[in-house]
Amino acid sequence: MTAGSALLANLPVAGFVHAVADDTLKIALVGCGGRGAGAADQALSTSGPVRLVAVADVVEEGARVALRNLKEKHGDKADVPLDQQFIGFDGYKKAIGLADVVILATPPGFRAMMFEEAVRQGKHVFAEKPVCVDAAGFHRFLAAAEEAKKKNLKVGIGLQRYHSSGYIENIKRLRDGDIGQIVAMRACWTGGPPWVHEREVLEQQCGRKLTELEYQVRNWVHFVWLSGDHIVEQHVHNLDVINWVKGGPPVKARGIGGRDPGKGKGYGEIFNHHSVEFTYADGSVCQSVCHQQAGCWAEVSEFAVGTKGRSQIDRHWISGPKAWRYREQGTKINPYQQEHDDLFDAIRNNKPYNEAEFGATSSFTAVLGRMATYSGKEITWDQAAASKVETMVKRIDELPYQEAVDLNPPTMPDAEGQYKVAVPGDTFVI
Ligand SMILES: NC(=O)c1ccc[n+]([C@@H]2O[C@H](COP(=O)([O-])OP(=O)(O)OC[C@H]3O[C@@H](n4cnc5c(N)ncnc54)[C@H](O)[C@@H]3O)[C@@H](O)[C@H]2O)c1
Repeated sequence: MTAGSALLANLPVAGFVHAVADDTLKIALVGCGGRGAGAADQALSTSGPVRLVAVADVVEEGARVALRNLKEKHGDKADVPLDQQFIGFDGYKKAIGLADVVILATPPGFRAMMFEEAVRQGKHVFAEKPVCVDAAGFHRFLAAAEEAKKKNLKVGIGLQRYHSSGYIENIKRLRDGDIGQIVAMRACWTGGPPWVHEREVLEQQCGRKLTELEYQVRNWVHFVWLSGDHIVEQHVHNLDVINWVKGGPPVKARGIGGRDPGKGKGYGEIFNHHSVEFTYADGSVCQSVCHQQAGCWAEVSEFAVGTKGRSQIDRHWISGPKAWRYREQGTKINPYQQEHDDLFDAIRNNKPYNEAEFGATSSFTAVLGRMATYSGKEITWDQAAASKVETMVKRIDELPYQEAVDLNPPTMPDAEGQYKVAVPGDTFVI
């Protein structure tokens, strides 16, 4: 048996169909923005033969720029023919069809729908975080994750801290009890305001009017059905670390949040600050803080206090009788690259690999936090998970682009172009 045929013998069925001629893993990129292009670069930088065979986006220019940059670095490996570049809300289905491994890097609202399709078509997946923005997406993603297990598909999620040796070692020590029983934690993502794409500027760039749906998709971070709010879109990373330490999600949450007055129309409907207390089953609490405010303190961190010590998890140290500090050995590892190296290694060598479940649970932890701050109520995990609210626009991926963009998103502007913002105490979120 040659090295090549030994490799083929190890490939799971889904990969095998596409790899009979050689062992090249074909990649499709869905969502060709900053992170999608980065993830494709990392996938193309894994060892072993790989090739980008298809891309999908809703903005032609986005796909073109990503492909130009990828081709500059990876040459023929990123040479995607025009008829394998799909533009439109239904394009992802066709791109997925041509690949062995699919990268999903659109705004998160689309993730569950696209993951479900990739699994239905029997493809391995790298899905960026967060993977859901509401309860419907959470359940949809989890169900597809179960299906992926049955089909022996490998699933990576863009929660790259799981591929950072400092985090891995630190959290192992915490779970082994090195600071005793953990009683309190803090998770933090505070920083300045995100990018804003004002409608007028976008329309000038496009040389035409945009429909409301088109506008929101291009300014996606400011709309809940697309981003989940920044507590979901960004802060999921830190909440995920806390869940990792605790071995599961919280049982309830309560919090406060809001947004500064005078925010322009471009800021859509999301809050710009949230503070949530998450309670875990053992009674321990995590204080979570996130804001996107100019001129304020900025920090991205996770911290834990135990009965025998403390740990600054993001800086990888522990104090107390079992004091420890992480020291990088050899070459510095880039977790963004490592997560792709690990996924592709698992695919090639048929190793167990499925990050979907904790990806979904952590994403939904952040959704629970948003429900708590928007409503101003204490909300349990079970209440949140039983929510019937589904924010994804129905039939968006069944219609040709020109018709899909005429669908109404779940939130529409008033006569002044302003969007309704949640009012704690008043807003019904479940
Ligand atoms: N893991 C990390 O550290 C990390 C870092 C940055 C972003 N992200 C995540 O990556 C995802 C993408 O973020 P980004 O910064 O690249 O955003 P972006 O706006 O740069 O890119 C999103 C792309 O998706 C396209 N798109 C929108 N709807 C689509 C659809 N229905 N079908 C196909 N394409 C569609 C857009 O046109 C755009 O090109 C987000 O979920 C974000 O949270 C993760």
